[in-house]
Amino acid sequence: MSVKIIGTGSALPEKIVTNQDLAQMVETSDEWIRERTGIGSRHISTGETVVSLAARACEKALENAGREAAEVELLLVATCTPEQGIPCAACQVQNLLGATGAAAFDLNAACAGFLFALHTACAYIQSGIYSNALIVGSEVLSKIIDWSDRSTCVLFGDGAGAVLVERAEKPGILGFAQHSDGSRGGVLRCDGRELRNPYVSVPARSPYVQMDGREVFAFAVRQIPACISEVLGQTGIAPDEVDLYVLHQANRRIIEGIAKRLTVEMDRFPTNLERVGNMSSAAIPVLLDELNREGRLREGMTLVLSGFGAGLTYGACTVRW
Ligand code: UT7
Repeated sequence: MSVKIIGTGSALPEKIVTNQDLAQMVETSDEWIRERTGIGSRHISTGETVVSLAARACEKALENAGREAAEVELLLVATCTPEQGIPCAACQVQNLLGATGAAAFDLNAACAGFLFALHTACAYIQSGIYSNALIVGSEVLSKIIDWSDRSTCVLFGDGAGAVLVERAEKPGILGFAQHSDGSRGGVLRCDGRELRNPYVSVPARSPYVQMDGREVFAFAVRQIPACISEVLGQTGIAPDEVDLYVLHQANRRIIEGIAKRLTVEMDRFPTNLERVGNMSSAAIPVLLDELNREGRLREGMTLVLSGFGAGLTYGACTVRW
């Protein structure tokens, strides 16, 4: 038994913020941002939420698959920027969609969150518990960014991407590799709330993203090729037999470094970070949806999806489209 992606959808906030706009706010330039990251603009929320973006992306994925919300059995939201602690974003999305039959919960593995959620959904389906699942990566990172910190505010964007997966006879998702390295969590962090109760008062540290960019860069270029080799090794597919690599969109130079290590030409690595920046868990499903809607995904193609991020977490997945 296999699990197949049968629909994709995405949603971005209306507001587009260019590098030139950012150069009005912090000491940076379009040239620096493009050269060091490949990013030219990003969509930033002016009221859209993780929940509203996720719901729109899910509606499009359902429409793309020709399925009704009421048919969904499992709904997973991958996010590290939920508006509320309780209830979880997935239950709010379930309510907006009218997916009344779905079990819904959130999963946080930062930028690898979508892949971890996809893996979770596959495990549920392959074990026979559910026959389908709606998985959405949704982020409003702009609320955890320090807009006076030029080293981080130029990198991120807001958005959501969703896929509907279903039990299938034909090959679909072929395999996963996923890993976490909690010993290195300090290199990319965003501290949470204060602890205050009748017994203790511990103030919150910075509520904004803090990152050692060079460390994350080196980690990604080293670990992702190894992780992709691991997942390809499960099915004996060679790197140059993969039609498209749909990677986490953090930095064009990271993607180039990964391509070089795999000795695969960059034309197999589509990107959209020029227009949307790094949307954490939304990056992979938004790019997948764009490729799908552009007609670039043909039946029988082999894809690799791969992402990395805070945790540290990283993973890869092979897909027969
Ligand atoms: O989803 C995972 C999330 N994180 C990532 O993927 C981040 C991975 N890392 C990166 O993408 C890169 O490390 C960055 C884009 C964050 C930084 O690029 P870099 O080539 O590693 O630059 P750097 O941090 O070594 O900084 C070089 C210089 C510094 O100035 P000095 O010390 O050489 O005078 C920075 O202060 O660039 C300066 N700088 C900037 N200058 C203009 C840092 N940010 C900016 C900026 N505009 N926005």
